[in-house]
Amino acid sequence: MTTSHEDWAEWLETNRAMWDERVPIHAASEYYDQDAFREGKDEIRDFEAAEVGDVTGKRLLHLQCHMGQDTLSWARRGAAKVVGLDFSEPAVEVARGLAAEIGLGPDRAEFVAADVYEAASAVPEADYDIVYTGIGAICWLPDIWRWAESAASLVAPGGFLYLADFHPFSHLMGWESATVIAHDYFDTAPKIADEPGTYVDFNAQTVNNRSFERDHTLGDIVSAVAAAGLRTEFLHEFDMTLFQQNGELECGEDGYFRAPKGRPRVPLMFSLKASRPA
Ligand SMILES: C[S@@+](CC[C@H](N)C(=O)[O-])C[C@H]1O[C@@H](n2cnc3c(N)ncnc32)[C@H](O)[C@@H]1O
Repeated sequence: MTTSHEDWAEWLETNRAMWDERVPIHAASEYYDQDAFREGKDEIRDFEAAEVGDVTGKRLLHLQCHMGQDTLSWARRGAAKVVGLDFSEPAVEVARGLAAEIGLGPDRAEFVAADVYEAASAVPEADYDIVYTGIGAICWLPDIWRWAESAASLVAPGGFLYLADFHPFSHLMGWESATVIAHDYFDTAPKIADEPGTYVDFNAQTVNNRSFERDHTLGDIVSAVAAAGLRTEFLHEFDMTLFQQNGELECGEDGYFRAPKGRPRVPLMFSLKASRPA
């Protein structure tokens, strides 16, 4: 499903205003804990580090990088050069400030403000060894097929796209149950939210509260990446997630949330690696 051009512009502008307003709230939040980040906190989840592998010497592009903490964590892990892209100018400004504070100059870390669909004309190099994206990213995009084209066009020969995000199946449950399906998996129509606050502070006072989101089925995500010319290396599904997505999930010692013991498990996150042959 695609959106008309007018809807598309409204979608992006509405969402941009929503994100711009939330950046200072996020930057000051415990959730993003930027003091700990400055002191060396690594933001990359253990499964991402294992699946992406050694990034030493690689050129990595992070799409929808928000305030750059994940992006800069890859640089700390040895990537030769990281580039973060986000359409929120305030988010990119925070990311640039963090890079400077942790001693990474533009030769190691650059941030650009641009729509992900315009990434190819916004980033400093034509292609990258690793194009990384995820954790709450693709649900904000109106068209997964055009996103895949944009992301794939930036993968260098011999390089790969790595995506880790919340599993579309995990959006089907309501708050009450970790297993009872409350929503229609195949309803991928745009959803309009109009709620103050943000996931780091539900009580935050905000005015730009409208936003557009859309679920993309797992089939569409994988098919879009394949149609963009990349070869799928793996598609992993996980029984754990990063937050209390419904009231039944329990937080384990490893910090991940899962269904209680004895209850049926459903996929809560997924990751995908797809490469461009050398
Ligand atoms: C939930 S955040 C990503 C979170 C990130 N993984 C993190 O935890 O820091 C989603 C980001 O997508 C960005 N975004 C949404 N739509 C975009 C678009 N069309 N182009 C570029 N960035 C976009 C927002 O500005 C926001 O920073």
